[in-house]
Amino acid sequence: MQASNVAARSSVGRNVVVVGTQWGDEGKGKVVDWLTDHAEGVVRFQGGHNAGHTLVIKGRKTALQLIPSGIMRDGVACFIGNGVVVDPSHLLSEIERLEAIGLSVRDRLFLSESCPLILPFHVEVDKAREAVRETSGAGKIGTTGKGIGPAYEDKVARRALRVQDLKHPERFEKKLRELLDLHNFALEGYLKAQRLEFQPIFDHAMKVAEHLKPMMADVGVQIAAINARGGNVLFEGAQGTLLDIDHGTYPYVTSSNCVAGNAAAGSGVGPDRLHYILGITKAYTTRVGGGPFPTELGIEEPGTVGHHLSTVGQERGTVTGRARRCGWLDAAALKRAILINGVSGLCITKLDVLDGLEEIKVGVGYMLNGQRVDILPLDADDIVACDPIYESFPGWSESTAGITQWDQLPQNARRYLERVQAYIGAPIDMVSTGPDRDHTILLRHPYKA
Ligand code: GDP
Ligand code: IMO
Ligand code: MG
Repeated sequence: MQASNVAARSSVGRNVVVVGTQWGDEGKGKVVDWLTDHAEGVVRFQGGHNAGHTLVIKGRKTALQLIPSGIMRDGVACFIGNGVVVDPSHLLSEIERLEAIGLSVRDRLFLSESCPLILPFHVEVDKAREAVRETSGAGKIGTTGKGIGPAYEDKVARRALRVQDLKHPERFEKKLRELLDLHNFALEGYLKAQRLEFQPIFDHAMKVAEHLKPMMADVGVQIAAINARGGNVLFEGAQGTLLDIDHGTYPYVTSSNCVAGNAAAGSGVGPDRLHYILGITKAYTTRVGGGPFPTELGIEEPGTVGHHLSTVGQERGTVTGRARRCGWLDAAALKRAILINGVSGLCITKLDVLDGLEEIKVGVGYMLNGQRVDILPLDADDIVACDPIYESFPGWSESTAGITQWDQLPQNARRYLERVQAYIGAPIDMVSTGPDRDHTILLRHPYKA
């Protein structure tokens, strides 16, 4: 009995989870694409098309929002798990955009029937709420305006329309009428915005449904089948730990759990099936939208470090085109991210962006109300009051762009990474030195660790 169990387990594939450890845009898409040559399937498990994951393959750039980054490798199955909120109209247009560049998508994209839908009124509510926050002086969250928050609210309130409802026009119609009534009441009465009409929303959803029906699947069962035949699966996080609805800088967060634990709940696999957690960390920090950011630097003035990070790093949002706020690496915030995710190893990205800086700083703690703290506090007001404590390193003048071997990095770059590693207490297993798939240093392979 025991021997056969051991034999069965040895044919079971391995699963790696990729998560952002900062405020998103760490370079998750690039790393997922790189790792996909070891995976048969790639799974999105939370968020929606608020994500923007940019991949560069042999100089050609592709931006993905909802479809897993595995789509760029022939034959890899791509799954949208139940934890993702799906705008059906956006999904179809993303599929068509990828088909237009010659990719096969519909034969290997699988959509969980349990995903809640984002419908046009969610987008209107999202935008109208931001307008109200701005005029009332509450301060905008700076959402992507994609309807993410309102769609998750409907899920938690147990009134959401889900992907499976698209298969049943009568059920869809009834639920849509009720939900639209509710949102129109809020739009007109409270948010002072325009109400939406039922018929165009219904007609469009039914049209899109015909395209999506063949892709609907039982995602958890399919992932288990890949694992059972020895295949590996990769879980692609969106956003980042500090945007997590529970663990992030609330209320300046997104509306889903972005941490590694949600890879299991958001796709329908058991937590014991997650074997290695890869945290993606930019060599500095960026943030889009509002909220506290202790190590932030101004980006406007030419000649400053903030301006260097913004321009050399090309820090502009993929989804909204907004300039990303920039600052030094915050290792005290990283400590919290490592703790919450159970990070097995880190990939430090965009090291090349630091090339040419005379001095490089890392936040290693904060002074808060006259006391030193070594890990990011939980309360957003405390975070605002945090005064970062920096450790300083000499920079390097050599270019690291495209380097693929650790020992080819300038000595000061290695010292910087080694010091960060010692401070945070987690191994750096990969380093990214450029946007292209091949610009990667591997120290320990996540699928072989
Ligand atoms: P994601 O949301 O975490 O997938 O990250 P984004 O794609 O939004 O932002 C990361 C940006 O940096 C993209 O434009 C990538 O092409 C680019 N990028 C990723 N890794 C590197 C790197 O090591 N060096 C440089 N210079 N650019 C990188
Ligand atoms: P990727 O996957 C960076 C931010 C928004 C805003 C907050 C809430 O590319 O790393 P939402 O529309 O989710 O309600 O907005 O979250 N945000 C992101 N910032 N990268 C992302 O995704 C983000 N997705 C949402 O800017 O501050
Ligand atoms: Mg992004």
